[in-house]
Amino acid sequence: MKFHILTFGCQMNVNDSDWLARALTVQGHEAAAEDQAEVFILNTCSVRDKPEQKVYSELGRLRGYLDANPAIFAAVAGCVAQQIGQKLCEKFPFVRLVLGPDGLRHAPAALEELAEHPDRRLVLTEFLDRFEEREQAWPELAEPEAAPRTAFVNIMQGCDNFCTYCIVPFVRGRQKSRPPKAILSECQALLERGVREITLLGQNVNSFGSDASGMGVSFAQLLHQVAALSELDRLRFTTSHPKDIAPEVIRAFGELENLAPHLHLPLQSGSDRILARMGRKYDRARYLAIVDGLRQARPDIVLGTDLIVGFPGETEEDFDQTLAMVERVGFESSYSFKYSDRPGTAAERMPEKVDSQVAQGRLLRLQDLQNTITRNSLKNCVGREAVVLYEGLSRVQVGAGVFWQGRDPSFRIVNVEHPKGLKLAGKLQTVRVTQAKKHSLMGEGIGRPW
Ligand code: SAH
Ligand code: SF4
Ligand code: F3S
Repeated sequence: MKFHILTFGCQMNVNDSDWLARALTVQGHEAAAEDQAEVFILNTCSVRDKPEQKVYSELGRLRGYLDANPAIFAAVAGCVAQQIGQKLCEKFPFVRLVLGPDGLRHAPAALEELAEHPDRRLVLTEFLDRFEEREQAWPELAEPEAAPRTAFVNIMQGCDNFCTYCIVPFVRGRQKSRPPKAILSECQALLERGVREITLLGQNVNSFGSDASGMGVSFAQLLHQVAALSELDRLRFTTSHPKDIAPEVIRAFGELENLAPHLHLPLQSGSDRILARMGRKYDRARYLAIVDGLRQARPDIVLGTDLIVGFPGETEEDFDQTLAMVERVGFESSYSFKYSDRPGTAAERMPEKVDSQVAQGRLLRLQDLQNTITRNSLKNCVGREAVVLYEGLSRVQVGAGVFWQGRDPSFRIVNVEHPKGLKLAGKLQTVRVTQAKKHSLMGEGIGRPW
């Protein structure tokens, strides 16, 4: 079977799609370009209305291929699959498989069954009570040198927080921690395949271990265990909820040498009134205390965040407080979104909706401020040295050499020019930063890559 996977949404989906591609490859199926595909798999996101609508427009677009060859079919996986379920097949008859996040591990078997029986349809949207292991799939690589050197490792599924704007708990289910032994053995297997950087993944990693599937190991303990694996150059984790970040996790930034000095810590709003309405269970003072603690533990830590503007009831004063917090913390990067009503959430039922134009204006002001902070922060890097882990070639290539792109420990993108013909993916190199661009840095290598 020739398959083509389209992925939307967060790193969870990226990681799930990677696993699915590997699992299908191990079973003898082949990844193919869109116009060669026999089956399309859409791994979808439902966090705002826009990515949900994108799924329907993509299905509409793919219908062209299916009209030409009726044997072609589509599978919808991920959060929109869970949200809409069976109705997806009714609206788009060529969708013959609908898989919620907990059903994904059945995808290889289900796709084979459907290819054999063109009259069948499957909808797998049951939630499980515990974290079920997926079969680990490691295909032989034609070019082992091209294997990725950074990897995600899932440590939990779902979320119990029910922030009032968020659909994730409804589409990913309750929080289920993965047994630490399985996490460590996946990390070990990745390191043996040459991976140098691991990112532990979950919707709220700081509450790892606190649910019924927890095994008495806290997130801080897990971090120590993973960091101790030999050969691991860099460890990261995402996403963190401020209400659950333990003092031990904050201290870990000062204790674990390979824990990278970067943290994505979603703030969502700088107004205590709005934070309370969002059900976030922390306030500005608590957030700032965490930031102080992090900077004490690791003075060079770089912070990123997520922000929502135009939450129901947000006034100009509330929004000004968000701007003030962004300035005060000095986030080097942020993802900011206009509030979007999600079906079934508590905020959807709140009456005081903010006018879309007003929210758009606030979004632009916030992004302007962020761009200024980002620019200054990146400018401060010029002249400094940093160790870059090369991931691949840069998107833009100019001049005689070849530009390689990687990240520094603080997750900044760095582009470095090298002579043609080198294979640098997965190599580390000390680099001197020479120039700051809008969202990235330029540098020159000053030592041998290793
Ligand atoms: N579990 C993570 C992120 C979940 S979704 C966390 O708690 O931080 C990623 C981001 O999407 C959120 O941080 C939030 O900023 C944004 N988001 C979620 N629901 C939204 C909505 N209804 N409208 C606008 N943005 C939303
Ligand atoms: Fe959504 Fe809140 Fe859970 Fe994050 S912590 S996934 S924002 S409910
Ligand atoms: Fe989107 Fe689902 Fe991730 S809603 S953000 S793909 S958890």
